Amino acid sequence: MTSLRGLAGTLLPAMAFLAFARPEIWEPCVEVVPNITYDCMEQNLYKIPSSIPSSAKHLDLSFNPLMFLGSQSFTAFPELEVLDLSRCEIQRIEDDAYWGLNYLSTLILTGNPIQILAPGAFSGLLSLQKLVAVEINLSSLENFPIGHLKTLKELNVAHNLIHSFKLPKYFSYLTNLEYLDLSNNKIQNIYHKDLHVLYNKSKLSLDLSLNPFDFIQPGAFDKMRLQELTLRSNFDNTNVMKTCIQGLAGLEVNQLVLGEFKNERHIEEFDKSALEGLCSVATEEFRLPYLDDFPNNFNGFFDCLVNVSAVSLANLHLKSLEGLPNGLKWQSLEMVRCKVNNFPPFAIPSLKRFSFTANRVENSFAGLTLKSLEFLDLSGNGMSFKGCCSLKDLETPNLKYLNLSFNDVITMSSNFMGLELLEHLEFQYSTLKQTSEFSVFLSLSKLLYLDISYTHTHVAFPGIFSGLVSLQVLKMAGNSFKDNTLSSIFAELTNLTFLDLSKCQLEYVSQGVFDKLLRLQFLNMSYNDFLLLDALSFKPLHTLQGLDLSFNRIASSNGQELQNFPSNLTTLNLTQNPFDCSCEHQSFLQWITDQKRLLVEAEQLECVTPPDMQGKMVLSFRNDTCQIPKVIIIVTVVSVLVVSVIACLVYKFYFHLMLLAGCKKYGRGENTYDAFVVYSSQDEDWVRNELVKNLEEGVPPFKLCLHYRDFIPGVAIAANIIQEGFHKSRKVIVVVSQHFIQSRWCIFEYEIAQTWQFLSSQSGIIFIVLQKLEKSLLRQQVELYRLLSRNTYLEWEDHALGRHIFWRRLRKALMDGKTWSPEGTADAENIQQEATTLT
Ligand SMILES: *[C@@H]1O[C@H](CO)[C@@H](O)[C@H](O)[C@H]1NC(C)=O
Ligand SMILES: *[C@@H]1O[C@H](CO)[C@@H](O)[C@H](O)[C@H]1NC(C)=O
Ligand SMILES: *[C@@H]1O[C@H](CO)[C@@H](O)[C@H](O)[C@H]1NC(C)=O
Ligand SMILES: *[C@@H]1O[C@H](CO)[C@@H](O)[C@H](O)[C@H]1NC(C)=O
Ligand SMILES: *[C@@H]1O[C@H](CO)[C@@H](O)[C@H](O)[C@H]1NC(C)=O
Ligand SMILES: *[C@@H]1O[C@H](CO)[C@@H](O)[C@H](O)[C@H]1NC(C)=O
Ligand SMILES: *[C@@H]1O[C@H](CO)[C@@H](O)[C@H](O)[C@H]1NC(C)=O
Ligand SMILES: *[C@@H]1O[C@H](CO)[C@@H](O)[C@H](O)[C@H]1NC(C)=O
Ligand SMILES: *[C@@H]1O[C@H](CO)[C@@H](O)[C@H](O)[C@H]1NC(C)=O
Repeated sequence: MTSLRGLAGTLLPAMAFLAFARPEIWEPCVEVVPNITYDCMEQNLYKIPSSIPSSAKHLDLSFNPLMFLGSQSFTAFPELEVLDLSRCEIQRIEDDAYWGLNYLSTLILTGNPIQILAPGAFSGLLSLQKLVAVEINLSSLENFPIGHLKTLKELNVAHNLIHSFKLPKYFSYLTNLEYLDLSNNKIQNIYHKDLHVLYNKSKLSLDLSLNPFDFIQPGAFDKMRLQELTLRSNFDNTNVMKTCIQGLAGLEVNQLVLGEFKNERHIEEFDKSALEGLCSVATEEFRLPYLDDFPNNFNGFFDCLVNVSAVSLANLHLKSLEGLPNGLKWQSLEMVRCKVNNFPPFAIPSLKRFSFTANRVENSFAGLTLKSLEFLDLSGNGMSFKGCCSLKDLETPNLKYLNLSFNDVITMSSNFMGLELLEHLEFQYSTLKQTSEFSVFLSLSKLLYLDISYTHTHVAFPGIFSGLVSLQVLKMAGNSFKDNTLSSIFAELTNLTFLDLSKCQLEYVSQGVFDKLLRLQFLNMSYNDFLLLDALSFKPLHTLQGLDLSFNRIASSNGQELQNFPSNLTTLNLTQNPFDCSCEHQSFLQWITDQKRLLVEAEQLECVTPPDMQGKMVLSFRNDTCQIPKVIIIVTVVSVLVVSVIACLVYKFYFHLMLLAGCKKYGRGENTYDAFVVYSSQDEDWVRNELVKNLEEGVPPFKLCLHYRDFIPGVAIAANIIQEGFHKSRKVIVVVSQHFIQSRWCIFEYEIAQTWQFLSSQSGIIFIVLQKLEKSLLRQQVELYRLLSRNTYLEWEDHALGRHIFWRRLRKALMDGKTWSPEGTADAENIQQEATTLT
């Protein structure tokens, strides 16, 4: 016992050590993409793990206490493209730290309190495009050693301690620079002399947000062109803002972003005059994302912005939308996440795009008069719409795109009269009323795309989609149908290529529903309640490529020909259906196996019934399990057949069997009679007068069995024939005559005799032919004919000599096998001798 414990005491730590020593166990990095992407975030690493292959391209080392980067720290990973060193407590970066990273395009150094940055820290890095140096305790760009990074496109030095916007000379060499983020630094003043390196940088986007501006020298940006300038939360009051914006005079900028951030520096009492300077700035797009103290109306606000082509207002509280200047040239207006008291009654004749999304609006939709408008996105406002839609409600005769998704109740009251140019119409997740009462989309003969998913639409009216002759995409997931039956509502949609009918509680598809959809490529009927796979209903869809029937209640096919499935189908999703894997459906299950290349996740299809197959895979279903019942059926049929054949045989050969039973019973015991005479009653005279006389009264006397004399009365004739006649007689004398052959009874007796002869295996039948028989008559009785022609028989001849010979021969034949008590004539002695030699 103690030795065991001792052994365990030594073994267990050793095993633990071994387990720990295995590289897989302590491997700190997650292999996201093998040999390419490694994530070593927050693993308390003091150095770069050696287990990472040299082929790695993406390496995330963030949140590890690396402390410093020595020279040539990354030469083991020459393929690196992205290196993340965020918050690695790096204080010192030595010369040539990134030496050899010739393919590195992104370097992230965010959140390192760098105190010593060697002049050659970034040497090499021949391909660097993006340098993120946010929050690295950088106090000036002057000594930031990046002047040689000619490939640099994006430089982010936000959240540092930079005081001066004096851009060092090396910026003029960074000819590829497109984005410079200097936000959240300490810049207060901008002077003209600081900016001359920016003159040739018309592609540059410049973010100076969150710097505490005091002053911008007028003309500092004069004749300068920029792609984008962002100034958010830079000003403490209206006056500073006003002078600074005036300082922008002469700037030409594609996109100007002014505004604030929530909970950051903001202007307490904003005055519209602050924007006066914008009249001297040429801009295409103006964005205003958040302004804490937005004025009560637009009066004077946009006076200097009448010529911009796009305006975007986000997160503003717009108490009144009055006061827009005349002569606006705006083509695009976006209002996002604003709080709006009234739905905007804008009349901007030039406007082509209007996005009014995710706003909080207090009233419902009102009319819009925007004659040039082509694109209208009113989604996500939770508003209701009392009468939709016609030119009366939306005076937008050029409208092509209308998005009314994610709103409240939209009551359909007209059929888009006057809005015939619409190509794209979307209502998803709004509640549609009266959709199924008339042909609401009747005017939209140019519509290509319609989305009424999850609109609580109950489809009962067959003409619901009348008029949509060009429609290509129809999405109507999450609605319901009358009687849960898909009826013929698609008759006019001959150009439809995509149809989504998922989550519609459908149980049946009526006949001919898809007959006209000759271009349909994709059909989604997942999440419905179909019980059967109805191949026939998909037959007309010759161009169908994808069919999604997952998440239904399909247990099997409905037995119709599965080869009717569209031949161009490439994807069939039948996952999550409760398949019935009983033999009854074996052709369906076989079909699934045959089509497994077509089926999505065929290996994962599971049987649900019968209980013994539950949880098993459909593909594991074997046809041979269904063969056992077949065998049983075959065996049953065969035995029934055999039994009936036997019964027939027994019925037919009943007497033969009786004979057989008798043979067993009587064996070859003593016989009462020497011969049983079979004859036709028509020949009875001859039998009485000739046969009986000659044989019974002759010497030796033979005892004959004659039915008129010896049969027991009251017993059936057939039984008598067998029991008295055959069983008790040694021989059978068959008296063949014309009458005999014509008598069915006689023939029966003769057949029994034959069997008797076969069973007693001795030649016991003696044939006597009474008169010459007609050959043709005899031939009818084929067996008899055969026997007569094969055996010798006695022919009765009615003259003295003939008789003598006849009786002699007959007696001789009867003597065969007879036990004999001597009593004798010469004749008899002769016979006796023969007899004794015989026995
Ligand atoms: C990863 O690289 C190793 C060595 O170069 C190679 O043997 C292995 O096949 C690679 N694995 C993958 C998934 O590419
Ligand atoms: C930032 O750098 C200065 C020197 O430029 C140093 O005095 C200061 O301690 C550094 N701050 C941090 C947080 O490392
Ligand atoms: C701007 O570029 C032009 C020609 O591309 C050049 O002549 C001029 O010197 C450049 N100006 C500056 C300030 O780099
Ligand atoms: C707008 O453009 C027109 C002519 O194109 C010009 O007369 C007007 O001054 C411009 N307005 C502003 C505010 O730039
Ligand atoms: C319509 O609006 C909804 C909600 O904003 C959005 O999800 C959807 O993508 C929009 N449709 C299009 C085609 O952009
Ligand atoms: C259906 O589409 C075809 C080809 O995309 C186009 O030629 C035809 O005009 C369309 N039919 C209708 C009614 O729009
Ligand atoms: C079909 O619709 C369901 C639910 O709406 C969705 O989850 C599924 O991705 C769709 N199928 C395809 C192939 O897009
Ligand atoms: C089936 O697809 C092929 C190739 O994508 C196309 O040529 C053929 O016309 C399609 N068959 C039918 C009936 O649409
Ligand atoms: C069915 O399979 C297709 C193809 O893999 C997939 O896009 C679709 O999302 C699946 N359907 C559902 C409801 O998951």
